[in-house]
Amino acid sequence: MYETWEELEQSIVNCNKCKLCKTRQNIVFGVGNRNAKIMFIGEGPGADEDRLGEPFVGKAGKLMNMAFQAVGIKREEVYIANIVKCRPPANRNPEEDECVACLDYLRNQVMLVKPKIIVLLGSVALKNVLGKEYGITASRGNVIEKKGITYIPTWHPAALLRDESKKIDFINDLKLVLKNGEYYGEK
Ligand code: URA
Repeated sequence: MYETWEELEQSIVNCNKCKLCKTRQNIVFGVGNRNAKIMFIGEGPGADEDRLGEPFVGKAGKLMNMAFQAVGIKREEVYIANIVKCRPPANRNPEEDECVACLDYLRNQVMLVKPKIIVLLGSVALKNVLGKEYGITASRGNVIEKKGITYIPTWHPAALLRDESKKIDFINDLKLVLKNGEYYGEK
């Protein structure tokens, strides 16, 4: 584990720990406030994120930004990262070996941000962070305390694009996130 962001970022620039390095354009490290109280964890970059090097800048990201606005979360005040930092080809789910290879980067990001609340966006984030025994349908909207961190799983924003009825759950889950922070912004 690295003690500084500079060391951590340096350690990832030429990463070839898994096969996703062969097809990526950019490593999508993470974005936002490195002292955030709230951290969001997604699955992995899509085409737009791969092209621009920033998480959640495509269709799903725009929808997430709109939901943020609706409840009063400022994107620049939270920290946003993914389970895998390189795009899985054709937007497939990241495979087990790819997640395992990449997870130490995320663990290091969590160690440095020290968030009070982690929002797990979708099944891949939920299972990789809390364990395979968790299912997103049963877990979303729950508040799960573990080792001093509050985890709140919710739908992945891309799921809202496929099923409009999930939007209200997503908004309610974001409100729950805000309710669980005694104050919002930096720690
Ligand atoms: N979906 C994700 O899980 N992460 C992104 O960064 C973009 C889309």
